[in-house]
Amino acid sequence: MSYQNLLVESRDGVAFVTINRPDKLNALNDATVAEIDAAFAAIAADPATRGVVLTGAGEKAFVAGADIAELATQSPVDGKERSIRGQRVLDRIERLGKPVVAAVGGFALGGGCELALACHVRVASENARMGTPEVKLGIMCGYGGTQRLPRLVGKGRALEMLLTGEMVDAQEALRIGLVNRVVPKDKLLAESDALIRKMLANGPVSLRFTLEAVNDGLEMPLDEAQRAEATLFGLICSTGDMKEGTKAFLEKRPAKFQGK
Ligand code: COA
Repeated sequence: MSYQNLLVESRDGVAFVTINRPDKLNALNDATVAEIDAAFAAIAADPATRGVVLTGAGEKAFVAGADIAELATQSPVDGKERSIRGQRVLDRIERLGKPVVAAVGGFALGGGCELALACHVRVASENARMGTPEVKLGIMCGYGGTQRLPRLVGKGRALEMLLTGEMVDAQEALRIGLVNRVVPKDKLLAESDALIRKMLANGPVSLRFTLEAVNDGLEMPLDEAQRAEATLFGLICSTGDMKEGTKAFLEKRPAKFQGK
């Protein structure tokens, strides 16, 4: 499939999805959001793709936010619909069932920060700057940011970012747990690739069920979440991957997982 504002390239089971509007710092206009939705739907349906690295084109930005030119003219009805559409697309990423690493180079602001939050792990370049400046525009986060940011960094830190609209640099993002690691700018993609391949060396069903247990479980009371975990644990005991993984350990050889 070809896209206007996205580049999608597959290498050895990993899809590299690049948001490609560098002249607008990869701002998310409606067309780009629709293309991200289509690309992730295709990735979900493709068994050959086992993980994703999501990044932005150019030196300056991951994504500098929703496209302010579109936001400026929206009616309340448009605004609500745009917010729901964006939330669904980011939910699709979070619920992909395959690991998604955000490679954050430069600015990740507003909808761009929210997009990074929907990914499972974030790798930032040393020049990354992240924030939710919507309040400076007289609006607020609309792509899940008011919910995912406090769940990731805690309520107090999230509210400081959400209410001041100030950016944090890469080291501060690392300190507060907003990103998982910080790497030199020229190593961003290589380090993101290496990280996702560490994950993909493991059983695909293990990854899928772990993502499900964490994503669903965090929204449940602890006892219910643990029951859901136990059910998934029981189910995973029926898989070929479980038989292969445990057998390979006992035979002192690397496992060959089939994802079944
Ligand atoms: N929506 C639409 N266009 C955007 C954009 C956005 N969120 N962010 C950047 N752009 C555009 C600029 O309008 C400019 O376009 P132009 O060359 O046609 O004028 C181009 O991208 C380059 O941005 P510019 O502002 O010139 O770069 P800079 O290095 O001076 O500043 C930022 C970088 C990120 C600080 C600045 O672009 C900015 O504040 N962007 C908006 C961030 C924001 O509020 N995001 C939340 C939106 S809800």
